[in-house]
Amino acid sequence: SNTVSKSDAEPLIASLALSGLAFAASYSMIRWLGPTFMKAGLKGTDLSKVHRKTIPECMGGICAVVYLLVIILFIPFPFYKDIVAATSGGGNKDVVLREAEEQVQVGRLLHRFPHSKLASYLSAIISLQSITLLGIGDDLFDIRWRHKFFIPAFASIPILVVYFVDFGVTSIVVPIPLQPYLGELVNVGALYYVYMASVAIFSPNSINILAGINGIEVSQSIVIALLLAINDCLYLLTPSYPHPATDSHLFSLYFLLPFLGVSFALLWHNWFPARVFVGDTYCYFAGMVFVVVSILGHFSKTLILLLIPQIFNFAYSTPQLFGLVPCPRHRLPRFNARTGLLEPSVTPWSAERQPRKAIAWGLRLLGRLRLLRVTLDEEGRFVETSNFTILNLWLVWRGPLREDRLALEITGMQIVLGLFGLFVRHGLAKLVFKE
Ligand code: UD1
Ligand code: MG
Repeated sequence: SNTVSKSDAEPLIASLALSGLAFAASYSMIRWLGPTFMKAGLKGTDLSKVHRKTIPECMGGICAVVYLLVIILFIPFPFYKDIVAATSGGGNKDVVLREAEEQVQVGRLLHRFPHSKLASYLSAIISLQSITLLGIGDDLFDIRWRHKFFIPAFASIPILVVYFVDFGVTSIVVPIPLQPYLGELVNVGALYYVYMASVAIFSPNSINILAGINGIEVSQSIVIALLLAINDCLYLLTPSYPHPATDSHLFSLYFLLPFLGVSFALLWHNWFPARVFVGDTYCYFAGMVFVVVSILGHFSKTLILLLIPQIFNFAYSTPQLFGLVPCPRHRLPRFNARTGLLEPSVTPWSAERQPRKAIAWGLRLLGRLRLLRVTLDEEGRFVETSNFTILNLWLVWRGPLREDRLALEITGMQIVLGLFGLFVRHGLAKLVFKE
């Protein structure tokens, strides 16, 4: 039948209810605990305002903790019918054992508790707890970039182990035009784990560096979570329900719904003009939620399709991340106090400190392609170049914008590209891959 069965719908309703609770709890705790966080030194200055106020930082830590508590509270729900079946309604043990023996004798399959499903669930929680712990450590101690880069790989070990034991598929489907040469499937073996660990490193870090204006970390995460949830719903509403992938997508929804709950609460306080900052904890945590659901749900390639703005921002950032161009501590857009608008922030070059030849050539080329704002003096020496982030590039293209306008436009772009990504996944994929 086409309607979602009762045993699938009931835990979903419980999850929705708990997500509402998670929203309410985060919403009020962010308000109440702001001053406490500031007293503990967790605060930051809002750089893009006329009156630079200092506001609580790391409030995403509250979201992560509320989220984890809610997810733990939720554990019994998806297993309710299995628990009942496995204990035969909690009746007399001897009777249960005798019945079990009889069933074995008549050759019937005993009801088996889905331990692997529980293992997925628990490993996801361990991964998310590790990333939260390390994120809070980063917000407290400002861990150096090259050290914190690999934190998510460490946190992904529990889910990778479960993937190995439980699923273990390391082959990739070959697009139809290449199949005559490579066959239908290519087994890439251990490389597949390297790939998954890379996704785990990339997703949290890429959200953390698409940052610097009020609301943007949360709004991009909400868009990605919503698109993943839409993708999950497509598997529940398909005519071929129950689909072999139904369980993975239910699992994904159980993890995404409370995430949306806590994120909307955070966005409420973090949207322009921000009353709190989210902290690196939130960025890592959000990125890891996506990694956990997509790896354990076996749709990590779909996640990559939804991270296109983040992939672009990372690729575009590489000249500064790899030190070819100096990278200041903050690359967020520059606030013009006279107009109240944001402009691209820049890296200054002095007469003594000019880029090397090859780099100068690259910078000029990017300037000509309108992919960078390059300012030269009369002698053709570099005066300044805009910083390599998608936010600055957007301002190069669109001209000065108010902070919330920039956040809305970038979020809109994420929505459009994400919907296009889903279309590619569900429409175009059928042309390139056999379903
Ligand atoms: C990343 C970026 C950095 C950017 C920063 C802003 C890279 C490699 N790193 O660093 O360029 O400047 O995020 O979050 O790209 N802040 C605001 N307004 C906002 C958000 C943040 O003024 O809307 C400022 C506040 O002073 C806040 C601080 O940024 O305290 C937080 O920065 P943090 O998240 O620690 O920076 P990184 O993630 O290390
Ligand atoms: Mg950050």
